[in-house]
Amino acid sequence: MSTLDEIERLKEQIQEKIGHAPTLDVLDKERVDLLGRKGALTALLRGLGNLDPEERAVIGKAANEIRAAAEALLEERKGELSAQALDQKLAAGRLDVTLPGRVTPLGAQHLISRIRDEIIDVFAGIGYSVAEGPEVELEFFNFTALNHSIQHPARSASDTFYLHDLSGDTHAGSEPSEVVLRTHTSPVQVRTMQHEEPPIYILAPGKVYRRDAADPTHLPQFTQMEGLVVDRDITFADLRGTLDYFVKEMFGKDRKTRFRPHFFPFTEPSAEVDVSCGICDGSGCRFCGNAGWIEILGCGMVDPEVFKHSGIDPNVYTGFAFGMGVDRIAALRYDIPDIRILIDGDMRFLRQF
Ligand code: DAH
Repeated sequence: MSTLDEIERLKEQIQEKIGHAPTLDVLDKERVDLLGRKGALTALLRGLGNLDPEERAVIGKAANEIRAAAEALLEERKGELSAQALDQKLAAGRLDVTLPGRVTPLGAQHLISRIRDEIIDVFAGIGYSVAEGPEVELEFFNFTALNHSIQHPARSASDTFYLHDLSGDTHAGSEPSEVVLRTHTSPVQVRTMQHEEPPIYILAPGKVYRRDAADPTHLPQFTQMEGLVVDRDITFADLRGTLDYFVKEMFGKDRKTRFRPHFFPFTEPSAEVDVSCGICDGSGCRFCGNAGWIEILGCGMVDPEVFKHSGIDPNVYTGFAFGMGVDRIAALRYDIPDIRILIDGDMRFLRQF
């Protein structure tokens, strides 16, 4: 092949390989192969020395033109490929700032827990602290120490969940002791008095269990709040003043309380407390069953028998106790007609609070 033919072929190769290099990497490789120190064009120029002067001038000129054209083509292709690479990078990293943000659903406190904490806040403000006891409780603390006779109907297996028969075991002398799911928070009174010296001012919130079928006003598991005060010279007047204060803090300054005589085994005297109906203000309406009042809790002066089981000297100390249903208070606050909805877990209902 003549040298001119070789130059012609090289020209075509440059057009093809540099002009159509698919990527910047391939382009660089072609540059080395064609124009580099060991490349085709350099080899050709090296051979010029063997040619006669006339031919050398013609071929040399042609070769230099090729080099200049190749370098221009190289720059052009490089520019094209760089622009393409930048476009690709921009497209890949594109952000659509008009897309709506992603919403992460936030959890919140359950209504029952919130009301529980509100009640605690009211009493914490007048010096009460929180005490706790087990939900799986000895029959002794749940009934016996709270002065329930052996025949008391609440002890029956149709009212109370019995877990474990420990009969044979004895507690407090001769009483056979079984394990129950506590039916109220009152056993925390006894546990606290056994471990603490008066003055005692405590609240005991927690879950309780009863063998009740769920209906609009009952649940087999619900939440109670117990209160206990033991100190010198505590009277029924202290109990009335305390609960009156609580009702006004919880339901509003215009609400009144009414104490009705009642019976509880562990308090003497005992009372049930009603709050004036917030809908009719005491005149009677459908919400309060035309009574004008709504029952919210039980209370009374701690029975000396309970003090004896708890290691407190009834000749030195007196005290009062009260117990309320937190679910019931929540239902009253928000006019909820059926408390089963509180534990259904229906978010459409719960989100309202
Ligand atoms: N333990 C009672 C119940 O579950 C409520 C109660 C009544 C608690 C009177 C008390 C009280 O502390 O003095 O029905």
